[in-house]
Amino acid sequence: MRSTPSTSSQVNQQASASNLAANQLAAKPSGAASGTPAHVQIKPRDRSHKIAAALATNWLDDDPFLTAFFNALSISFPAGEKFFIDSIRLFKDQVSDPVLIEEIKGFCGQEGFHRREHQRYNEALCSARGYDLDKLEAPIKKRIKMVQSRFPPETNLAGTVAIEHLTAVMAHQLLKDNQVLRNANPAMAELWRWHSAEEMEHKAVAFDVYRAVGGSLKARRRAMRRATFFFSLEVMRCLCYMLKKEGLLYSFKTWRRGVRKLLGKSGFLHGSRALYKEYFKAEFHPWNQDNSELLQGWSAETAASS
Ligand SMILES: [Fe+2]
Ligand SMILES: [Fe+2]
Repeated sequence: MRSTPSTSSQVNQQASASNLAANQLAAKPSGAASGTPAHVQIKPRDRSHKIAAALATNWLDDDPFLTAFFNALSISFPAGEKFFIDSIRLFKDQVSDPVLIEEIKGFCGQEGFHRREHQRYNEALCSARGYDLDKLEAPIKKRIKMVQSRFPPETNLAGTVAIEHLTAVMAHQLLKDNQVLRNANPAMAELWRWHSAEEMEHKAVAFDVYRAVGGSLKARRRAMRRATFFFSLEVMRCLCYMLKKEGLLYSFKTWRRGVRKLLGKSGFLHGSRALYKEYFKAEFHPWNQDNSELLQGWSAETAASS
């Protein structure tokens, strides 16, 4: 049977017990290391998406800024998802909870399919729009290589935990009832919602592995500050590259409308700040944010359309 995440009072008691405890993550659940609710299954779905034609267009709300923003996110995924898989696999032999071991397999399977689909996405995008994929990906690959050679596996796992939270927050935003994908090309919307649903399913796996092997709270927080900075930097770099190629980099109107659709009242990132900030709490666990009803909604919608 799976346990639920600890309460904040339990964590506070432990944190005051010693300096070491103050530096550790929220108390481990007694027994099982997995904190994913039993009704959430981490199931890799081998899907392929016919999106080549859509990628030649402003597939998201006919908006070049918003379309480029999501295309920029996609550029970072194949190398990023390989990094997540590599980071977690290094620790799989240190995990004894059979549930969490199965979840690691599910995590790697899901990220493997995401990686493949976003590689196809990125190749089709670059071929349709004349972007240089090597140029777009090179700084991301270089940074990951540097991080893997310079930092210990624990630090890379902490980085994975942090970015998994960023992707879980974005997944929440895409699956909840907001305007973002409402005016998207249907095949593109399907791909992003599939990826979001699986990100949500496996959002606690890296965290639970990190907690099971004794990762510290301090390193987890530091990893999030770094991850937020570098992830934003890479997305912004790719976004600017694409807008430049489209001749829109210096279009004030394009930026004003796009930023409003990202941060405005019904924008993609509206309301995400609170979800993001919870990560820094000592008692944080990804499933403290229980959004499994969004997964159920996605499953029902997918079943109805198939
Ligand atoms: Fe993914
Ligand atoms: Fe993920």
